[in-house]
Amino acid sequence: MSIPIYTYDAIIVGAGLAGCAAARELQNAGKKVAVITKLHPLRSHSGAAQGGINAAFSDQDSVELHEFDTVKGSDYLADQDAVEFMCQKAPETIRWAERMGAAFSRTPDGKIAQRPFGGQSSPRACFAKDRTGLTLLQTIYEQAHRVGVKFWDEWYAADIIYKDGKVSGVVAFNIRDMQTVIFNAKSVMFATGGYARAYKINSNAHANTGDGLSIVARHGLPLEDMEFVQFHPSGLSGNGVLISEAARGEGGRLFNSLGERFMEKYAPNAMELASRDVVSRAILNEIREGRGVGPRKDAVYIDVTHLGKELIMEKLPELRDLAITFLGLDMIKEPILISATAHYSMGGIPVNIDGQVRKNNSEFVEGFYAAGECSCVSVHGANRLGANSVLEALLFGRFVGKSMVRDIDSIELRPATQEDANTALAEMDFILKNNGDETITGLREELQQCMTANAGAFRTKETLEIAIAKVKELRARFQNIRIKDKSTVFNTELQEAIEFGHMIDYSAFIVESAIARNESRGAHYREDFETRDDENFLKHTMAYMDTDGNIKLDYMDVVLGKHELKARNY
Ligand code: FUM
Repeated sequence: MSIPIYTYDAIIVGAGLAGCAAARELQNAGKKVAVITKLHPLRSHSGAAQGGINAAFSDQDSVELHEFDTVKGSDYLADQDAVEFMCQKAPETIRWAERMGAAFSRTPDGKIAQRPFGGQSSPRACFAKDRTGLTLLQTIYEQAHRVGVKFWDEWYAADIIYKDGKVSGVVAFNIRDMQTVIFNAKSVMFATGGYARAYKINSNAHANTGDGLSIVARHGLPLEDMEFVQFHPSGLSGNGVLISEAARGEGGRLFNSLGERFMEKYAPNAMELASRDVVSRAILNEIREGRGVGPRKDAVYIDVTHLGKELIMEKLPELRDLAITFLGLDMIKEPILISATAHYSMGGIPVNIDGQVRKNNSEFVEGFYAAGECSCVSVHGANRLGANSVLEALLFGRFVGKSMVRDIDSIELRPATQEDANTALAEMDFILKNNGDETITGLREELQQCMTANAGAFRTKETLEIAIAKVKELRARFQNIRIKDKSTVFNTELQEAIEFGHMIDYSAFIVESAIARNESRGAHYREDFETRDDENFLKHTMAYMDTDGNIKLDYMDVVLGKHELKARNY
């Protein structure tokens, strides 16, 4: 039976903020666009962003300070041209979102309220209580619908059509009945989100399995700066569910088992509002040195009781609910237990400011774009500042959509053929028919435990070599899997097997890139190389995978600018 081929001007994969914003731009400009998403759009992980979205527009703030904080936060690895673009366009992006209908929290005199966040010189995070991402996602999704974007909800994008240096579509299957379809288009954008699910304790949605990155890497295209995985300081103890930085932004304090406000030792000026990498390592260090709290002594306290019920209910209601639900602790009355949680991927699919995907350091793939967390533009460098990710997703999603509108008429539609679906079909066929004795849940657990223990917030060459050996072992054992569900109806076991294959691929990128970076910078902390080494490592990692899963490393220059290299202290 032949596979249906549907033709659009543009296909967007992923329906979070970046995907919805780009789709809206394209459709609004009269282009025929489809969004393919493995979830319902409103379950996209953008909706989990709690604390805010940055823009410098108060009298005490400036675009230049926003740029400086972002570059310093990135430990000088961010590309300063991209940072300047983002920070300059940030105020306009907030005003645009507001005009689209986003209901931001307000000050008593009616202005958009802004709260302090880590590593920032001024209160800069605009927010909607502690549901900022969800508020924005609902708004932009609604607006995409309003202009007529077609959403293919619960369709899984399994491959891209990549030939002769050009992308001309996507192969996807319907999760409901496994019907496979080829989406043929002049241009494709990936907005497929992050990949912290490779770690056991993480703040990410179950969907964040890095599918887009691995699909790209399997075509021999590079991934950039994959060693930089952000650990957010405050995940709920035990499960890593996010307790927004807003809790510290509003005045929350961290304490160890001795009742010490331990950030005094690690960041005497910024205290709890140092950059995330600094606060996360401080928390983990307190725990490692035996000053942890809770039944397993694997947490520290965050205390917001002094803020009072009224403020907590007004500005942090979601956080309070989460702590009550998962820990049975009411933050109005008592401190709650938190620890660092894998949260965000600074690395990803390398793109320029227009969102065009890089084929290598100097060439681009025709008709292929990426934005949001799956991409690396790179505005975050080695460490992202809180509330810059929602900004990046919304802002670059929108502007990359505009770039696609600009380029699309000069791209010729390359007709798809039935053979374009072969790789995706073979992958599904293997998973459904293989009759080995390994389970996906078992393999995934081993991967997540190993990545957390050996490629986490603290690493050494030795631990990373344990991790790469495990990744290679799991890749081999994946050939011996068996899934129990052989049906074609909502086969989530099949989907999880495909996703696990992706997790194996991008984990290899994380670990190999980390082994080669013999320095500590931002979120990449090598205990055997504790300082930043600008002479040898002020450069982006560009990593490529061969067909056997081996990773080859190359490097690309950082775009420097007016913010000069300095030691980073908070
Ligand atoms: O803490 C938070 O609210 C997370 C925000 C972010 O990652 O930008």
